Amino acid sequence: MERLKDKVAVVTGAGSGIGRAAAELMSREGARVVVADYDTAAAAESAALIEKAGGLALPVTVDVTDESSIADMIAGTVREFGALNVLCNHVGGTDPRTDLDLLRMDMEEFHRAVARNVTSTLLGARHAIPHMIRAGGGSVINTASVAALVGDVLQTSYGAVKAAVVSITKSIAVQYGPQNVRCNAVAPGAVMTPALENNLPAGVIESLKKGNALPCLGAPEDIGHAMVFLASDESRYLTGQLLVVDGGMTMQSSAAPGRRAQLPA
Ligand SMILES: NC(=O)c1ccc[n+]([C@@H]2O[C@H](COP(=O)([O-])OP(=O)(O)OC[C@H]3O[C@@H](n4cnc5c(N)ncnc54)[C@H](O)[C@@H]3O)[C@@H](O)[C@H]2O)c1
Repeated sequence: MERLKDKVAVVTGAGSGIGRAAAELMSREGARVVVADYDTAAAAESAALIEKAGGLALPVTVDVTDESSIADMIAGTVREFGALNVLCNHVGGTDPRTDLDLLRMDMEEFHRAVARNVTSTLLGARHAIPHMIRAGGGSVINTASVAALVGDVLQTSYGAVKAAVVSITKSIAVQYGPQNVRCNAVAPGAVMTPALENNLPAGVIESLKKGNALPCLGAPEDIGHAMVFLASDESRYLTGQLLVVDGGMTMQSSAAPGRRAQLPA
């Protein structure tokens, strides 16, 4: 399949988890992919996986909290592949050990979270969009989270920064729509990546499962497929949207898991 034939895509955070899956799936659809991560070895490993499967990938070391590093990533992409059509601003997250409730949250971590999630998204788009306009259009895909949509007892910073990512997505969509640059966000629910597996106790993972309408948690590819769609021309009439990919976590009533347990066999 060649849904992304002739497209050049940059995926940040492509050394692991959802980012790696998205990069591999985009390559499978014909895109030339820049796999960007601050873990140089992980980026090289993702690129090697793509090349082994017959794709074309460029590993790039980037720190998305540093504007000059973002600028180098975008310039390097255009130098190597001649254009830029898709930017997936995927890096994000907070430290769950210190991102607590309002009274106990660590403010240093809050500022780091803004840099990692919000400033990185904004600056990535800012450096990429001029190249997209030059190419006649493009697609910016931002990674939000269901945390942007619901309140939680912890992770105050995480919810706030992901809500900001949704807002930036809409601003970009409005501002550059006339130049055919689309911007959408994906809101993953619980997805089994190293980040989730390493940070959440087993009990919480079980309760996340119960909170989904579907009988499982997500895999990185589930989000990657949504990103491929948003990168492709199949979504050419879609902009400024938040695509929630969460197994039905946020659309079901909080009473549903209990009622399901009471259903007659
Ligand atoms: N896994 C989930 O359940 C889930 C749910 C909702 C949203 N998300 C979002 O998905 C994104 C990544 O999650 P994941 O589960 O794929 O995580 P992951 O830990 O598997 O991968 C994150 C990658 O980003 C890289 N990275 C971290 N900081 C960086 C920086 N400053 N510059 C460049 N690279 C950096 C890491 O080296 C790593 O390879 C985040 O935005 C997160 O908020 C994940």
